[in-house]
Parts: sequence; C-alpha cells; structure tokens
Amino acid sequence: MDFDVELIEKLRQASKVVVVTGSGISAESGIPTFRGEDGLWKKYRAEELATPQAFFANPELVWEWYDWRRQLIGKAGPNPGHQIIASMEDYYDDFLLITQNVDGLHGKAGSHNMVEIHGNIWKVKCTEENTEKFLDENPIGQLPPKCECGALLRPAVVWFGESLPVDGLVRADKAIKECDILITVGTSGYVYPVASFPMIAQASRALVIEINLEKTPISQIADYTLLGKSGDVLPALWHKVIQK
Ligand code: OAD
Repeated sequence: MDFDVELIEKLRQASKVVVVTGSGISAESGIPTFRGEDGLWKKYRAEELATPQAFFANPELVWEWYDWRRQLIGKAGPNPGHQIIASMEDYYDDFLLITQNVDGLHGKAGSHNMVEIHGNIWKVKCTEENTEKFLDENPIGQLPPKCECGALLRPAVVWFGESLPVDGLVRADKAIKECDILITVGTSGYVYPVASFPMIAQASRALVIEINLEKTPISQIADYTLLGKSGDVLPALWHKVIQK
C-alpha cells in the first residue's frame, strides 16, 4: 500500500491525535455495521429497538435483540485495526480514542484513553436508580433482567432521542479542538454529534484523515481519504509511520 510521504511525516510529527471510530472497524471481527447492504438497520427498525419508548413499551423484545447482539459480540475478538489504534496511544503525548461502538473491542485490544460515547453493551443501567454495572452473563438467563431494587435494568447504551454522556462529550470536545490530527475510521458520518467532530477539528486547524471502505460525507472535508478495510489500511499506514 502506498501513502503520501507528507501524510506519513505529519503523522510522525503530530503530538495530539484523536481517533474516532464507528462500526466499520469491528466489521472484520464479524460484527455487523448499521447501514449499508448487510447493516442492522436494513433488517431491524431502530425506532422499535433503540429508543427509550420502544424499551418501555416492550422491554422483553428490546432485551432479546440486545441479548442476541451480546452473544454475537461475545464470540468476536479485536482485529488488527483495533490493535493498531491501541498501540498509537503509546506513541503520542496526547491521544484520545472516541468510539461510537458499544462492543467493547477497543478495550479488549488494550485501548485505555478512550470515550465510549454511545455506551457499552456489556453494561446495564437501573431504570430507577440510574446506576451502571457490568453484566457478564451471556446469554442473559431471565429477560428482561431486573435490578436488586426490583426495577428494570436497561442496556447502558445511548438510544435515539437520548443525550450523550456529558463527561464523555466534554472530554471529546476538548481533545477535538486541541488536536493536530483527527482520524476517522469506519464511520458513515451520518449520526450527530459525532458526525460533526471532523469539521470541528478542521475549524481548529487539525488535519483530518478518513479511513473507510468507501467515500462518505466526511470525505468532502477530509484532507486525506484512505480507501480500504481498516484492518489492512491501519497496519500498513502505522508500519510506515514507525519505521526508522
Ligand atoms: P454505519 O453502519 O453507519 O457505518 C459503517 C461505516 O463503516 C460505513 O461507512 C462503511 O463503509 C464502513 N466500513 C464497513 N466495513 C469496513 C471496514 N472493514 N473497514 C473500514 N470501513 C468499513 O456505522 P456507524 O458510523 O458506526 O448509534 O454508525 C453510527 C451510529 O449509528 C452507531 O453508533 C449507532 C448507529 O445507529 C446508535 O445506536 C445510537
């Protein structure tokens, strides 16, 4: 794979880097994306499964879908794309990964400086107390699961119509406005506010690099769009950056 020499030099010299990932990075781990031909939103209706209204109308149905996804994700492991992002954290003085993925695979690959801005599918939240905890049981025995207090537990993920976690947003916003380079990986750029992050970074003079199988709305503003699978492009690119 050939890369622009100037791009490699900029990646070598940067000190503050933000990576923003979407479901495309986990596609090579066998986890379906949301849009596109085999995407989840082609087979299922988001408003019936991923909204608070849908959950309170039919918690069992929503939990069946999340339990199915948890089983699918439970069989998956991180791929070379996740692993390269984890190693980028050691290279830069200041590094933040912002992921829209709830699968937890970045953590499994060893990423620490990370904001899971849409939550984590392995966590549950009490609908009364708002407390979060990990629920490792896979599959979950009794659906819908309940809290010790008797209230319903819900997946600790962000649904359509809900706000993103404030602490995560504040951390992401600061990093985006201060970074030298922002790299998006495997995201379609349709879901806000994450879709606006490349533009905000660019307005603060960051270089924007996009890695995706195909062009997206982000390509219109990206300084570089690298087309290909993230599990191929990221290792090839990073190998060039770290080679002496
Ligand atoms: P999408 O399904 O919208 O987009 C996935 C992107 O990954 C597409 O642009 C694909 O071209 C690209 N892609 C697929 N396989 C790839 C690969 N191997 N390497 C590189 N790119 C690849 O998923 P997201 O952008 O993550 O939110 O969607 C954002 C949010 O919409 C999700 O977090 C979820 C969803 O509804 C909520 O549920 C709140």
